[in-house]
Amino acid sequence: MECLQEWPELVVPVQALSESGVSAVPDCYVKPLSDRPTGLSSPTGHEPNIPIIDLSGLSGGAVACRATIQAVAAACRDWGFFQVVNHGIGPDVIGRVRAAWRGFFDRPMEEKRRYANSPRSYEGYGSRLGVEKGAVLDWGDYYFLHLLPAEIKSQEKRWPENPAWCKAATEEYGREAAKLCGVLTKAMSIGLGLDAEFLGRAFGGEDEAGACLRVNYYPKCPQPELTLGLSAHSDPGGLTVLLADERVAGLQVRKGDSWVTVKPLPGALIVNVGDQIQVLSNATYKSVEHRVVANAAAERLSLAFFYNPRSDLPLGPARELVTPDRPPLYQPMTFNEYRLYIRKNGPRGKQQLKSLSRGQVTN
Ligand code: OGA
Ligand code: NI
Repeated sequence: MECLQEWPELVVPVQALSESGVSAVPDCYVKPLSDRPTGLSSPTGHEPNIPIIDLSGLSGGAVACRATIQAVAAACRDWGFFQVVNHGIGPDVIGRVRAAWRGFFDRPMEEKRRYANSPRSYEGYGSRLGVEKGAVLDWGDYYFLHLLPAEIKSQEKRWPENPAWCKAATEEYGREAAKLCGVLTKAMSIGLGLDAEFLGRAFGGEDEAGACLRVNYYPKCPQPELTLGLSAHSDPGGLTVLLADERVAGLQVRKGDSWVTVKPLPGALIVNVGDQIQVLSNATYKSVEHRVVANAAAERLSLAFFYNPRSDLPLGPARELVTPDRPPLYQPMTFNEYRLYIRKNGPRGKQQLKSLSRGQVTN
């Protein structure tokens, strides 16, 4: 793919710009009026929030287990997003991985730039998504790595050397997050009225599923009202587990015509449905648009763990979920083919899923 070899313009880390003390956001980060954070905020003043689900119910008795599965299914249908508590990942594991990546982003710029990525695989340190020349950019940097399956795990040279324990802490967190995704896909499968292994099988089986990590770093922004930390998008893969910053909010989730600001609960993880599960569930579960607003007062760090289907399997709606009343809404496509779109075009709301759709899908 010729156009995915290099970035179309010189890449400037947003952190470098922010730390240089600029008092205005350069033009290339200024969003059109309709995309700016004030344009769509909820007018009510008392915003609803995404559901909070206690996963300890899954290992309780039959009644608690069923109620928890119903809560997961309802959240996947109504919001596409929820927070989980008692998710099984220890606070020590979470503390270490957070500290590792805060440590990395605190390293000198010249050291970070040694890991500069290219659009070919996106692995490493980067500041843009998409290769369209002249695109309006987002106010954020990131570090991207492949964790699973083992054959495509990012090579040693792609991992930060500092902090020295960054790789170990990330692998430890990655193992736990993958385990959690295994539990969640079972609950989500049962919630669709299917057998517990349905989504796991569709992803290619536990040893074949993919996982990658994007650590997002949103530096302080002199004019947060003009730009976004991350433009509106839905996640292209299966399921995302987001470890949000416990100190600074920023994630907003679309609910109808409003954007709801997520208030991260200390110790919780944020889970959201990706496009592939919307496809597999024939749009019973929704992959919902979300975005990140920038902040003048504080920088923000988040870790997005993406749990994905094996990349060479054609995925389409489950046969069991296709009925005369509910025809298949999507045509089968592999995740490899699907993800090229976002790698070329960058975040574009839900346009990509619409382009796959056969007929009338409203969300
Ligand atoms: C993402 C994402 C949200 C956040 O990385 O896909 O939506 O809060 N991140 O950083
Ligand atoms: Ni996302």
